[in-house]
Amino acid sequence: MRVVVTSDVDGYAADLLVGKWDSIRVLGLATGSTPVNVYGRLIQRYYDGTISFRTKRTFNLDEYLGLAPNHPQSYRATMVRDLMQYVDLPDERFHVPPGISDDYAAACTAYEDDIRAAGGVDLWVLGVGVDGHIAFNEVGSARDSRTRVVDLAESTVAANVSYFDDSDDMPTQAVTAGVATIMDAREVLLLAKGAAKADAIARAVCGDESADTPASWLQSHGNCTFLLDSAAAAGIVNSAGADATRAPGAGGREHSIEFLD
Ligand code: F6R
Repeated sequence: MRVVVTSDVDGYAADLLVGKWDSIRVLGLATGSTPVNVYGRLIQRYYDGTISFRTKRTFNLDEYLGLAPNHPQSYRATMVRDLMQYVDLPDERFHVPPGISDDYAAACTAYEDDIRAAGGVDLWVLGVGVDGHIAFNEVGSARDSRTRVVDLAESTVAANVSYFDDSDDMPTQAVTAGVATIMDAREVLLLAKGAAKADAIARAVCGDESADTPASWLQSHGNCTFLLDSAAAAGIVNSAGADATRAPGAGGREHSIEFLD
């Protein structure tokens, strides 16, 4: 795992994606507040003619259970607002797990099949929850978990309820890509900003690989970067030292740390 600490998470992430653009056929995306400005930068690069989405395919991590695609707080509608309405990705190449289905088990299997049929995800952009969740793989999620229906943790509901006008409308379940679905991606870029994420990041990078902190499973992904601001990196810096270039990980593993400013 590579850890990069920078005051410009959005700019670094956008530059990294644009730099690899031609080799990314299938892009995995996250919702949530963290990547929104990265998507804003990608929209700028689309408008200035640097990149096009026309031949890309995208898969989102998750969707609230019970929300129709056109519900304003559905993750599909959020992605349309934050990115898709501005760029030239054909609608049929934009995939989000189903929020509504007659048969969720079959729909989750179909989502995995669609990813596989597309050739797998080249790079998956992730955020992380304050409890260390990735996608909606909450605490307790196994490394071999696949796309499925899950219960949301109380901390996840608390972190997202403000997006809903009426708190009773906030779903307490979701359909999420699994840990194994994410681990299958050829590259993973996890973004974290702010002090609220520092504990989860420290456990994910320096703790044991365990279902107690689902993001820790990424330690054994062969091509994973954690891109952090200094507040989110504070817990790692406490264990490794501000000028250290390696952070300890599980099983005697060490992770490189680069401080860009
Ligand atoms: C969203 C997702 C979640 C978020 C996480 C952080 O698709 O998969 O894991 O990335 O809850 O959310 P923010 O970025 O709002 O702090």
